[in-house]
Amino acid sequence: MEVVVTTEKRPSQELIKEAQELSQKFKTLYIPRRHNTINSIKKRYNKNVLVVNRDLTLTLHTLKGQKLFFHPGLFKIRLLNYIATGNEAMIKAMNLKEGDTVLDCNLGLAQDALLSAFVSKQAVTGVEKDPVIFEIVKRGLERYKPEGKLKIAEDAFKRIKPICADNTEFLKAQPDKSYDIVYFSPMFIKPKWHCDVMSPFREVAVKDFVSPETLKEAERVARKRVVIKINKGVKELFPYLSDYTLQESSTHVEYVFKVVS
Ligand SMILES: C[S@@+](CC[C@H](N)C(=O)[O-])C[C@H]1O[C@@H](n2cnc3c(N)ncnc32)[C@H](O)[C@@H]1O
Repeated sequence: MEVVVTTEKRPSQELIKEAQELSQKFKTLYIPRRHNTINSIKKRYNKNVLVVNRDLTLTLHTLKGQKLFFHPGLFKIRLLNYIATGNEAMIKAMNLKEGDTVLDCNLGLAQDALLSAFVSKQAVTGVEKDPVIFEIVKRGLERYKPEGKLKIAEDAFKRIKPICADNTEFLKAQPDKSYDIVYFSPMFIKPKWHCDVMSPFREVAVKDFVSPETLKEAERVARKRVVIKINKGVKELFPYLSDYTLQESSTHVEYVFKVVS
């Protein structure tokens, strides 16, 4: 994703330095904020605008006018539902137990990874290919202060280990059977519904689906299961998923999994 980097209005010297360093990291321009609006920067450079906030978290303003920043989103509802019922579709597809290790190959905003970390009580490795999304999420996880009912999951935020890499390349470098569960949640294919959380993602995220080559590596690296989140009805489009079990669902999200032990 292409960005230019700026700061909040009236930045401190520290914030300016941070934004300049980030622009060097992304090999792009640092734009002094001065009296510029986000829209005027967007128009002038025709790029997404990455803003360094006062607390050093990041907000991405996309060209189409959406905002992407770290927030636990649907994690809270899923967590509370899981605590109340012991039932959660992803956890069921993973057959995730306390003590299992999870490699999350599509970290995104880390909502799935947070639930995995909460249930497993283990570190979760999360791989994200886009360097800007990676930086937004890494900083978000480090700085987010769970409040109220989310406090119960405070440790989960600390257990996620974000890595910026292509998941296939990362998998290739891992030893055989090095994680209990290898999990994928690629961008949905032609979704027929609108989801506020995923909408900015659809504009800027990497859209790789899971290739047969990637799956082969995942099945080598997993000790117990490989699990993929897909949208309903999509499994049939991928003949190489024929030996994956479909976990039926009444929602538009389904999971397929393969037991590899
Ligand atoms: C649908 S989102 C994942 C949502 C995430 N599971 C969550 O709970 O927030 C897919 C993410 O995978 C990333 N991605 C796509 N292809 C990838 C690849 N080959 N390697 C690593 N990350 C990838 C995208 O940039 C995007 O952030």
